[in-house]
Amino acid sequence: MNIVGQFPNISDALVDRALSRVADFNRFREEGLICRSGDFFPSVHYPPITMYDEVDENKLFEDYSLPADGKLDVYAHIPFCKQRCIFCHYPVMLGKKEAEMDQYLGAMEKEMDIYMRRLGVDRIKVRSILVGGGTPSYLSPAQLKRFLDFFTKRLDMSQCDQFNWDVDPSTLVGPIGLERLKILRDYGSDRLTLGIQSLDERVLEIMNRPHDKAVALEAIRNSQEHGYQVNIEFIFGHPGETLKNWVDVMREAVTLGTEEIQLYRLKVEAYGDYQGPIKNYLNKRPDEVIPHEEQIMMKQLAIDILAENGYHENLRRVYTKERQHFSCYAENQCCKLYDEVGFGLTAFSSLRDRFVLNSQTFGEYYQHIEEGRMPLNRGLKRDRDQQLRWAIVLPLKNRDVYKSTFEAATKGESIENVFRPKIDRLKAYGLLREDEVSLGLTQLGTFFADEVAQQFHSDDYIPYPREAYADGPLNPYLDTDPYAAKDAAALAVS
Ligand SMILES: C[S@@+](CC[C@H](N)C(=O)[O-])C[C@H]1O[C@@H](n2cnc3c(N)ncnc32)[C@H](O)[C@@H]1O
Ligand code: SF4
Repeated sequence: MNIVGQFPNISDALVDRALSRVADFNRFREEGLICRSGDFFPSVHYPPITMYDEVDENKLFEDYSLPADGKLDVYAHIPFCKQRCIFCHYPVMLGKKEAEMDQYLGAMEKEMDIYMRRLGVDRIKVRSILVGGGTPSYLSPAQLKRFLDFFTKRLDMSQCDQFNWDVDPSTLVGPIGLERLKILRDYGSDRLTLGIQSLDERVLEIMNRPHDKAVALEAIRNSQEHGYQVNIEFIFGHPGETLKNWVDVMREAVTLGTEEIQLYRLKVEAYGDYQGPIKNYLNKRPDEVIPHEEQIMMKQLAIDILAENGYHENLRRVYTKERQHFSCYAENQCCKLYDEVGFGLTAFSSLRDRFVLNSQTFGEYYQHIEEGRMPLNRGLKRDRDQQLRWAIVLPLKNRDVYKSTFEAATKGESIENVFRPKIDRLKAYGLLREDEVSLGLTQLGTFFADEVAQQFHSDDYIPYPREAYADGPLNPYLDTDPYAAKDAAALAVS
C-alpha cells in the first residue's frame, strides 16, 4: 500500500504509524493470532452468549445466593426504535407503536416481581444501572415516567454509583427531547451514551440513522447542558467511510467536550440470532466493503488523534481525558466480575458462576411472564474450566486481570498456576504485561484485545475453526489446557 502523501488532512507521521499497525496486523495473521481472513469476533462474554443451550429456571437458580453485600448491577432493555440502522443486529420493534410499548412496560414490571421473588428480596440493592436497547428514550415522556416509577420503586438506590442510558440522538432534541432529558435527570440518571456513529452526512444516510449531523450535535449539547456525563459512540469501517472523512469526524469529535469517546469496528456478521441488513447491503455492493487494512488504519488514526487531544484508552474502546469517566456498569460486570441482573427482551444476567439470557422474541417473552415464569431462554452454570477462562477473558479484554479478583472468582485458583505457557508466550510477543498484582494488555495488546482474550478460550469456543488460523506460534488452538505447565511440573517431580 502506498498511501503516504495522499491525504492532505493527515500528517505523514500519523500515516506512518497507521501503516506500521497494518504491518502488525499482517504479521499476527501469519503468526496465527488473527484469523487468516482478517475478520474479527468481538469478545464479550465467556463462553460466547450465542453458544448456550436452553435452561431450566429452577435448575439455574436453585443454589444461587446473593453476593455477601447484597448489591447488584441492574440492566433494563427497551427494544423500540424509530427505524432500522443498517449495521444493527439487535432485535427491535420499529415505528411508534404506543400500544406495544405499553404492553411491554406492563410485562417488564411483572418480570421484575417474578425475578425479585426468585432472589427473595423486596427491593434490589443497586450498585449501578444501565437502561439500553433499542432506544429507551424513544418512549414518550409519559411512558418514560411510567417506566421510571415502577423501575425505581423496586430499587434501593441509596448506594447507586451511576445511572446510565444508551440513547440515540434524535430522541433528545426539540421540546420533547428536552422534556425527556429532564425526566431522566429527575430520577437520578447521570450518564448518557449517545450513538453518534458518524458526523458525515452521507455516512449517516447510508447507515439509515434517524438523525443527521445537526441533530447529533444538538443532542450532545442538550445532554451537556442538563449536566450528564456524556459518552459518544462511533463506528469505523462502515460503507461510505474513507480515511479522509473518518479523520475529519475524529478531529471534530474531540472538539465537542464530551467526557468519553467510544469506538467500534463494524461487525458485518450477526453476533446474536438476528442478522442486520448490512450483510445483504454489502453482498449487493462488494465495492463498498472497507478492506481490513484500511479499517486497521482508521482505528490507529483515531487513537492518535484522540491522544493528541488528551483522550486515552480507559475501559477498552472508550477514550477519556480523565480516569474516573467510564461506565461503572461495564467495569463492575467485566472487570470486577460482580453480579448483574437484566430485565427485558434479550437482557442477560451475569452472575458469579452462571449466566442467563432472556427470550429473543416478543411472543415468547410475554408468554413466559403471563405464566408467572422468568422469561429465560438460554444460559449455563459454568463448569470449573469455563469459570477459569471467564475470570481471565472478561477482565483482560476490558482492562486488567487482578490476581486477587481471579482467585476470588475461581475458589482460590492462582493465576500463577494456570495458563502459564500462554501467558509467557503472549508476554514474549509483546502483547501481555504482568506484575505481582495484575496481568494486562500492552499498548500493542490493547489494539488486538479481542484476539488476545480469545487465546484463553477452550477449543470449543474459539470463534473460527483451527484451519482458519495460520499454523503459527500464536495459533489459539495451541496449549489450550489451563494446567499444562502445572501438570508437567508435577510429572517431573514424581
Ligand atoms: C446498543 S447499540 C445502539 C444504541 C442506540 N440505540 C443508538 O442507536 O444510538 C450500542 C452501540 O453499538 C455499536 N454498534 C451497533 N451495531 C454495531 C455493529 N454491527 N458493528 C459495530 N458497532 C455496532 C453502535 O456504535 C451503537 O451505538
Ligand atoms: S442502532 Fe440503535 S437506533 Fe439503530 S436500530 Fe439499532 S438500536 Fe435502534
